[in-house]
Amino acid sequence: MSAILLEGKPVADRVFGDLEARVKALASQGIVPGLGTILVGDDPPSAGYVRKKHEACALVGLVSSDCRLGADATTDDVLVAVESFNTDPSVHAFLVQLPLPDGIDESRVLTAIDPMKDADGLHPANLGLLVMGAEGPLPCTPAGIQALLAHYEVPVAGRHVVIVGRGVTLGRPLGLLLSLKRPHANAAVTVVHTGVPNWIEHTQRADIVIGAAGSPNLIQPHMVRPGAAVIGGGITWEGKRLVSDVDESVAEVAGWITPRLGGVGPTTVAMLLANTVAASERASASSKSIGK
Ligand code: GUN
Repeated sequence: MSAILLEGKPVADRVFGDLEARVKALASQGIVPGLGTILVGDDPPSAGYVRKKHEACALVGLVSSDCRLGADATTDDVLVAVESFNTDPSVHAFLVQLPLPDGIDESRVLTAIDPMKDADGLHPANLGLLVMGAEGPLPCTPAGIQALLAHYEVPVAGRHVVIVGRGVTLGRPLGLLLSLKRPHANAAVTVVHTGVPNWIEHTQRADIVIGAAGSPNLIQPHMVRPGAAVIGGGITWEGKRLVSDVDESVAEVAGWITPRLGGVGPTTVAMLLANTVAASERASASSKSIGK
């Protein structure tokens, strides 16, 4: 079987095309959407992801602010940086790049972000909106994976999705998103992890398998039902090589599969910019309603 490749670029290009019109409309009101990033420490992959986010902003007409803290930063230092973006009117939305170095309290940091400026949809209030199925910024990688499935018309409603991994940026919110009663969702979702005995029995029955563990080449052909859709959401750097959670040989059995490079990644960045533009629109609407 030769699998259909789920390339992220056409999905991201479509999102960027939509955003360009909205950025123009904001510009006519004198507003340029602004994204802030906070990067703590000197992890080269994280620095690379942050650079890509700034490059995408420039491409679509957003401004971006880059805050860097050393590897010796404390939780309080990060909270000061968060507060500075919370109160900066030129920053409509921002993120703290994860993972944070050991010793920094990730939950305190995410909770300190103004939920109205939460570019990543990871503030507890916004995760709560997701649980409720209410409007709010969605975590970017889950939203990107949903957009990828929608773009390539992979059936999701009523299908069995198995997500391997339960992290806060990907596995857990993706399970919530794909189980909502909405288009391109409404699935039967199982979230497993590698500590579940016989977790492979779950992936073998799935219509859609999503690797979200950050474990290189975790998903192998024998774990996948022939014809299933297989998405590599987790990624790991091995030296200078980016390796997906999904082994490339899975293409021999899958019906659809993300490529090792250029699958989910571009859609994540597109959703980040979409959240930022939406935050700018909200800020503009609320300043009009209070007559600022
Ligand atoms: N690190 C890996 N994925 C993400 C993400 O979606 N947001 C942030 N802030 N950090 C990440």
